[in-house]
Amino acid sequence: MNRDGDKQAAALAAAAEVGDGMLVGLGTGSTAAFVIAEIGRRCAAGLRIEAVVTSLASEAMARAAGIPLRPMDDVARIDLAIDGADEVDPDLQAIKGAGGAMLREKIVAAAARRMIVIADGSKRVARLGAAPIPVEILPLAHAFVVDRIAAIGGVPQLRGTADAPYRTDQSNLVLDCHFGPIADSVSLDRLLSAIPGLLGHGLFLDQIDALYVAEDGVVERIARSVVTTA
Ligand code: 5RP
Repeated sequence: MNRDGDKQAAALAAAAEVGDGMLVGLGTGSTAAFVIAEIGRRCAAGLRIEAVVTSLASEAMARAAGIPLRPMDDVARIDLAIDGADEVDPDLQAIKGAGGAMLREKIVAAAARRMIVIADGSKRVARLGAAPIPVEILPLAHAFVVDRIAAIGGVPQLRGTADAPYRTDQSNLVLDCHFGPIADSVSLDRLLSAIPGLLGHGLFLDQIDALYVAEDGVVERIARSVVTTA
């Protein structure tokens, strides 16, 4: 099966965990788009849920799909968040944020009782770090954060160009930070989180409860300690 087929297969399997009465966190990206479409289809068929979104792009998709939405500023607890990832390791630690939504995605993940990640097989890695870790920063802290990232061994690259930098949904900047293979993700999480002006980063270490990953059409559900075939 092709990669999009695998993304969709993982998304459909995860969407089956959504039930009546839930408040659901909707992720961002091409894999999350399949979940939004499937939940929209089920809402049209009578599923009664509400959702919060992690980006303006997902908000537009969810509205078009007819999913009832609540503003996140009104919400402290979510039943289930479903989102994509850029890399996931065997301990269900992940790098997210290629789509630039990692700050809102982490708030939604932290508010969620359970978080499920959906992915095609290309996202599975033995060790995190081939992908850069995206960090969202306050524009006025740009030079300062670049200096601090370099001091902890990262190579930060401004997303976009100096003349036309990429802007997040909150109008902030993103630095894609290359660290290479990550030996101690917990320490790196602490170091990044301690930098003033760095609003959020794409390392997700303990938020993910289960992964649906599809390879050649076969979907596997991996919980933090149990592996089953979906
Ligand atoms: C957006 C994300 C995405 O979930 C991640 O980049 C995966 O995207 P895709 O499903 O398109 O590969 O973290 O900020």
